[in-house]
Amino acid sequence: MSIRGIELISFRNHNNRTVEFSPGLNVIWGENGSGKTSILEAIYSLSIGRSFRTSDRKQMIQKEKDYFRIVGKFESQGSKSNVAMSQLKDGRRKITFNDEAVKGFRNFVGRNPVVLLSPEEQGITKGVPAERRMFFDKLFSIASHDYFEALTEFNRVLKQRNSALSAVKEGHQSPTSIHPWNEPLAECAQRIWGMRENLWEKYSNHLKGVVQKLNDNSVDLEGLYSSKALASKEDFLITLEKNERRDIALQRTMSGPQKDDYSFLFNNEDIRQFGSQGEHKLALILIKLAEFKFIQELNDTTPIILLDDVLAKLDFHRSEVVMALLEKNVQTIITTTNLVNVESHGIDVKNTNNMSLYLERPCSN
Ligand SMILES: Nc1ncnc2c1ncn2[C@@H]1O[C@H](COP(=O)(O)OP(=O)(O)OP(=O)(O)O)[C@@H](O)[C@H]1O
Ligand SMILES: [Mg+2]
Repeated sequence: MSIRGIELISFRNHNNRTVEFSPGLNVIWGENGSGKTSILEAIYSLSIGRSFRTSDRKQMIQKEKDYFRIVGKFESQGSKSNVAMSQLKDGRRKITFNDEAVKGFRNFVGRNPVVLLSPEEQGITKGVPAERRMFFDKLFSIASHDYFEALTEFNRVLKQRNSALSAVKEGHQSPTSIHPWNEPLAECAQRIWGMRENLWEKYSNHLKGVVQKLNDNSVDLEGLYSSKALASKEDFLITLEKNERRDIALQRTMSGPQKDDYSFLFNNEDIRQFGSQGEHKLALILIKLAEFKFIQELNDTTPIILLDDVLAKLDFHRSEVVMALLEKNVQTIITTTNLVNVESHGIDVKNTNNMSLYLERPCSN
């Protein structure tokens, strides 16, 4: 799977820019603030439907402009597709796939998968549990339409139930207004737990494989999933009833898959609490390698790899691991402030099969 080109209109600091990519290695280089990460952000947005830097798409609209529009041309096993996203300042947005409006995201997410390795993703090892949950929810949604659908529905129902809890707490409603949400919540919860079990097993096997392949006795990374799943839907319904008073007091549903936990152990210690800077970086690379293998297996397609400024500060050992990511026949887009950073890793930027793009600051086009 590859991206052939992208068009950026009023997107971040890119006024009107077209970039063509090679199916192999692509290097985007330029000074800080020249717009390198923004190009990766645009590709990522066309893949997932949202940015990795902000949850507010309006922030990506160029200052003083009313909208942005990005269009990507993708190719997978000989078949071409184009994806366009427009966002207006007033909040309206439109995504099209082959010029047809995408209504639900069910069939959109995962079609043109990417794997992003960026300092912005470090929250997966360093951040609060919610960041890991979000990472796996996103990954599982890319791999499974059913997961995406169950999760979307669960979040919708959870929001409704939580509003009902607030209304009861504030005395606007009686507790019976909460009850209609219990059944659909339990239904979705069981579906999510069932799928998480299965998808986690696949992911953690890939992680094991990646760590084994690293073949370094001083490095062990293990993923842990602690599910709060109950044995049956009925058990969950009983739990909801039992905890109703607490939920009302907190105005939040405190049991369910939104409370599951994922963690990573580096040499048997929770990396979040004990990891050094270097261990966090190495762990993220391994987690991303496993993500790549996982998507490759489940989506039956090879994701595009986006490496945001990661080669610069890596020591030899870690860069070897990153280079292992750059297998043949995988499209890779690398950003760097200095070409030396990539050339020192044996990447020949002048090879005619590779593409390199220099960005100036401020943007001159
Ligand atoms: N909505 C916007 N409108 C105009 N400019 C923006 C907007 N959002 C961000 N910018 C600017 O775009 C520039 C490019 O940001 P980007 O993160 O892509 O740069 P970069 O090349 O990755 O830099 P670095 O090497 O520091 O990571 C920054 O100067 C930023 O301030
Ligand atoms: Mg950047």
